[in-house]
Amino acid sequence: MDSILVRGNGALSGAIPIAGAKNACLTLMPATLLSDEPLTLTNAPRLSDIRTMTQLLQSLGAEVASLQDGLVLALSSHSITNFKADYEIVRKMRASILVLGPMLARYGEATVSLPGGCAIGARPVDLHIAGLRAMGAEIDIDGGYMVARAPKGLKGARYTFPKVSVGATENLMIAAALAKGTTVLDNAAREPEIANLAECLSAMGVPVGGIGTETLTIEGVTSFKPIEHAVIPDRIETGTYAMAVAMTAGDVELIGGQVDLIDTVAASLRAAGVTLENTENGMRVHRTNGALHGVDVMTEPFPGFPTDLQAQMMALMTRAEGASMITETIFESRFMHVPELARMGANVTIHHQSALVRGVPKLRGAEVMATDLRASVSLAIAALSAEGDTMLHRVYHLDRGFERLEEKLSACGADIERLKG
Ligand code: EPU
Repeated sequence: MDSILVRGNGALSGAIPIAGAKNACLTLMPATLLSDEPLTLTNAPRLSDIRTMTQLLQSLGAEVASLQDGLVLALSSHSITNFKADYEIVRKMRASILVLGPMLARYGEATVSLPGGCAIGARPVDLHIAGLRAMGAEIDIDGGYMVARAPKGLKGARYTFPKVSVGATENLMIAAALAKGTTVLDNAAREPEIANLAECLSAMGVPVGGIGTETLTIEGVTSFKPIEHAVIPDRIETGTYAMAVAMTAGDVELIGGQVDLIDTVAASLRAAGVTLENTENGMRVHRTNGALHGVDVMTEPFPGFPTDLQAQMMALMTRAEGASMITETIFESRFMHVPELARMGANVTIHHQSALVRGVPKLRGAEVMATDLRASVSLAIAALSAEGDTMLHRVYHLDRGFERLEEKLSACGADIERLKG
């Protein structure tokens, strides 16, 4: 396994290109399963999770070609031969469950492994199942698999999510594209990745109403158009680098980054003393004078503060003047980075869902490891401002969600290198 060595050495300065959003691309790719028509995705990120989704779709019989060094994915599903998403792939990546809705809608059958728990919490899939059942699916759990059937196809339905779920909203949206009649999803997730998927479905010829709101209306269709669709910029990568720049009191332009995708995060960063402004090519982040101030943050579904930036915000707050209360409301075990940050000298006390971070004047490099990708990158951010060397282990987590992290940071002056395992 590779490791990353970071020698804390001061302010980041320069430019960082922002890639396409992992979580948007992972949602768009299964939409290929809806029809024979080609789907071309541009601005795809070059990440191991995208390769895992590629393998999964190929295992079902789909064709996925990676073009232009992985920036373009050409997908086609004219010869699906296998209706089973195997445990070996699903256990690696929970987004695999997104093949369930379209396979069931198109072929009337799908067997998808239950993903199981993961490092950030139990993460059940009951809402995916309940929503598809409301559309007429019969789903049994057998041998660790969801065995789903809809012999007469899926029917449009009205379904109100008892809890906001990004993945369940996406699964039902894609399934509804091929269901008979109209589907109305209430209390739907409003993440930008959902809007990106809705726009993709619209371009394919599926009428989608209520984009960006908590009520989505999808009219099922029987034929689709071949399309090319662009993956939106990664708002989590954008926020992560904004925090890295703030941590080192740097000045960096995030090329392709969009402030309007991270409004809530931008408000918290501004309150902490960071400047963010739109530029012609993206956005500029700088903290060139003054200290960081502690700000309180609570994770919530979009447009609230994203759980996927909670660990990075905590890393930043370890160096703020004053205290910060960070509350995680989406996942139950998403504080796994806390003991690792403590190894670097951070002062954090966890009480139930909240972490009280008392800023310290300095962090010191240490050997650290993390159990998920956002936690890993939070340790890299901490390392950038720490005194001495930090060795970050289990880097494969980072490779799931951050494209060429060490190259992007080195180009802005960071002393960071990958050590091959
Ligand atoms: N939940 C249920 N039942 C369900 C589905 C979800 O109880 O059937 C719960 C979850 O356990 C969680 C909450 O609902 O407590 C929200 O989960 P959600 O379904 O929204 O999450 P997800 O779709 O599994 C996506 C992202 C995550 C991100 C969350 C929240 C993808 C591929 N993954 O997961 O991204 O944290 O939304 O925004 O889009 C990451 O990229 O590091 C990552 C974990």
